[in-house]
Amino acid sequence: MRKLIYFVACTIDRFIAREDGSFDYAFLMEGEHITDQIESFPETIPAPMREAAGITGSNQWFDAVLMGRRTYEVGLKAGLTNPYPHLKQYVFSHSLGVSPDAAVELVSGDPLEKVRELKQGSEKAIWLCGGGELAAALFPEIDELILKVHPVLLGTGIPLFAGVIKQTALELTDHRIYNTGVMRLHYRVRHSP
Ligand SMILES: NC(=O)c1ccc[n+]([C@@H]2O[C@H](COP(=O)([O-])OP(=O)(O)OC[C@H]3O[C@@H](n4cnc5c(N)ncnc54)[C@H](OP(=O)(O)O)[C@@H]3O)[C@@H](O)[C@H]2O)c1
Repeated sequence: MRKLIYFVACTIDRFIAREDGSFDYAFLMEGEHITDQIESFPETIPAPMREAAGITGSNQWFDAVLMGRRTYEVGLKAGLTNPYPHLKQYVFSHSLGVSPDAAVELVSGDPLEKVRELKQGSEKAIWLCGGGELAAALFPEIDELILKVHPVLLGTGIPLFAGVIKQTALELTDHRIYNTGVMRLHYRVRHSP
């Protein structure tokens, strides 16, 4: 059974973006943690950046990505309709109506049902890209969190989970601290029955 992994960058005070969705100058875009992400998670780098940086690494962890409509729109506003052509892409939305790109599947039905269906495959894990609203909706199906915690406080913004979730224990399974001050924390989610 495939896992659903929420792989996301956040601040020390657990925000994934400012309230307006921006995150420029909040997250460090250069340094040891980025080099490691390119090497260990090359599939999480969007296509234009992969091309510009000559990243050709094959998928290591994921072969599918789930995005909320507002997360997908970050690229869409810049004309990027197919951000991760090397992954199967799903965008969750009730309002989009039609997918802007044949490579991106629009999901307007029950998101948990869709994830349970995708988990039946035997491929690599499913990347939950975000944002916070979709993460809260999919929380019951999240198996692992991989948090890239950046050394910054935003004070306010879009939280890791923008919605009600249950108190849930996490087991730290791996971690790395980079010389940039970024921490990569891996947690297994211990859902209670
Ligand atoms: N730091 C990071 O690594 C990272 C990663 C990803 C995103 N982000 C940031 O997060 C921001 C967006 O986060 P967000 O929480 O505002 O929005 P989001 O979760 O990306 O998208 C919310 C939208 O997704 C759809 N959706 C959510 N739950 C759904 C459900 N249960 N069923 C069907 N559709 C559902 C709805 O679209 P409709 O309104 O169309 O129905 C909803 O308005 C972006 O601006 C981006 O900057 C940061």
